[in-house]
Amino acid sequence: MKLYDTSINIILKYQSKYGSYVASPNFRQYQYCWIRDGVFIAYAMDLAGYYGSSRRFHEWVAKVVERYSWKVKRLVEKLERGECRGQSEYLHTRYTLEGFESSGQWPNKQFDGYGAWLWGLAEHVKLAGEEHLLDTYRNQIKLVVEYLTRFWSESCYDCWEENPDKIHTSTLACIAGGLNSVNKYLKDGEVANTVDKITSFMASKCVVGERFAKYYDPQADTAAGLDSSLLWLVYPFKVFKADDPLFRHTVASIEEKLLEPEGGVHRYPEDTYYGGGEWIILTAWLAWHYAENNRGEDAIKLLKWIESTADNQGNLPEQVSHHLLAPQYYEYWVEKWGPVAKPLLWSHAMYIILYEKIQP
Ligand code: BGC
Repeated sequence: MKLYDTSINIILKYQSKYGSYVASPNFRQYQYCWIRDGVFIAYAMDLAGYYGSSRRFHEWVAKVVERYSWKVKRLVEKLERGECRGQSEYLHTRYTLEGFESSGQWPNKQFDGYGAWLWGLAEHVKLAGEEHLLDTYRNQIKLVVEYLTRFWSESCYDCWEENPDKIHTSTLACIAGGLNSVNKYLKDGEVANTVDKITSFMASKCVVGERFAKYYDPQADTAAGLDSSLLWLVYPFKVFKADDPLFRHTVASIEEKLLEPEGGVHRYPEDTYYGGGEWIILTAWLAWHYAENNRGEDAIKLLKWIESTADNQGNLPEQVSHHLLAPQYYEYWVEKWGPVAKPLLWSHAMYIILYEKIQP
């Protein structure tokens, strides 16, 4: 069976009856639904025409947001009274498949998934022709817009669940991109202002040398680091144009420092998680960029590489360990959490997305 069809089957198989998608069914720490992963899984299903699957995921997120709306209200009250807010008071990044907060410790204060959700919902509405959903989820959309508008400039964990004291450029892209997508329907001047503010902040503060930086450090007032998630600034969030010099230099640095000549893409140079291998999702992201910028052959080369990482049953892992950045950490993680997660639904989703963008 083609990897495209296997990927659809895997996603359908592991979508729960509640609508949530498990991050990875066989990896204990990933038996939850992450809003971030789920948004891209749902987008893949939309591109492939499985609108029912995607709709059920968005319904699930809307229920979660409704269930925890009191947290946002309390945070806003505390903000207005000038009171401190603890990390655990923010909306969580992952939930049980039923849609409840999980009890264990997790770095939950992450804003990117909520921005991505607004973008993903707007894409679903467009692709499936279901504009009425914007009305159905009016309250949840308003709540998430308020949450992001009030708190975007606070530090939080990044999309890899690290660096809690920084402001992350790719997180800001999710927020600005999500607010902008949904504002095509809301047409709210305040939301447009926030998008402008975030974009100017990114262009002025989140820059190192001639390219975008992984994060801005509010304590030191400096920006630093490189990360492949910076690709999100253009695809899908379109906060900048692909030919913006800052973005072009960012892609060049990713190619120079994070792309293996005969392999895939690493997350960031200092990565030690499972030794810092090559990630399927990020390889698909770079290929997506190539596909949109007349580099079809380069895109297909990466697509083929992704196909080569599937096992006999067509399962894609989170990362492969062919060229490790920090090999001394590989065993540590295997002992701690077992082998690399596989199948990872987000990897399958990114393969579907790439396939749809390339149409090989
Ligand atoms: C990654 C996250 C991801 C989660 C579930 C973590 O290891 O850093 O980006 O959302 O796994 O797939």
